[in-house]
Amino acid sequence: MIWADDSLALASGVGYHKAMTAPILVFDSGVGGLSVLAALRAALPGLPVVYAADNAGFPYGTKTELEVATRTCALLGRLSERLRPRLIVIACNTASTIALGHARAVLDVPIVGTVPAIKPAAERSRTRVIGVLGTQATVRQPYVDRLSAEFAADCRVLRHGSARLVELAEAQLAGQTVTAADVAPELAGLLDQPGGDRLDTVVLACTHFPLLLKQLAQAAPPQLGFVDGAAGIARRVAYLLGPGAVAAAQGEAPPGRAIFTRADDHVDALVSALKAFGLESTEIL
Ligand code: DGL
Repeated sequence: MIWADDSLALASGVGYHKAMTAPILVFDSGVGGLSVLAALRAALPGLPVVYAADNAGFPYGTKTELEVATRTCALLGRLSERLRPRLIVIACNTASTIALGHARAVLDVPIVGTVPAIKPAAERSRTRVIGVLGTQATVRQPYVDRLSAEFAADCRVLRHGSARLVELAEAQLAGQTVTAADVAPELAGLLDQPGGDRLDTVVLACTHFPLLLKQLAQAAPPQLGFVDGAAGIARRVAYLLGPGAVAAAQGEAPPGRAIFTRADDHVDALVSALKAFGLESTEIL
């Protein structure tokens, strides 16, 4: 489909884009996608951004594949009609590993997904034991099997799904204190598995988890490093936007907007954290 809008520009290889003023839509179930937004803002500070969180459907990690795929595609469709984004970033490993193909099939907007950074983790690992720390839904996906087979065939890949870390990241952004002791049992979910004593690299395969990197690093044994794919997402977005848009996005950031799918006390508690990520206004879809 070609948007009925005379501000169209043809970008080679990625279909039709809207004007440079059209926003980038960053989507997650909650605040996790802010870790991706921070990398986007660092690389492309002047990019107009709308951050959308499906807090009415949160958490995605304990839902079925059908529920995650349905919510993701339906909401991205609704948001695309309303916002006419230039590009969508699904800043959620759960939604991406389950629904990226479906969303690309139904939406005529370039979509960048966030999938576990198994390739860089395998490149970094010396012991050849790596961990994938994600949601329960992410760690059981065939997408993770495929990434492991393609990029980490000579590694032992341990997986652990944690709903608790997602809750802790939400609580921290809402102003509560989270300590290393709070996150330690979740890391133990990897370290206590057979081969866990040789684990040297953990993929943060949920966008909520980099928000707890300080505590995770404190709780981890000294040899353990963490890999987060957010900078790679920002590079992919820059590539798809093209050099003209990247040059135009080096200026000052316009105020970002946050959209939630349900009004509640948690959203009220997040407002100051959202402002720290450049999201000045908050609305309900
Ligand atoms: N931030 C999401 C991810 O990257 C999931 C959190 C959730 O809703 O369970 O997987």
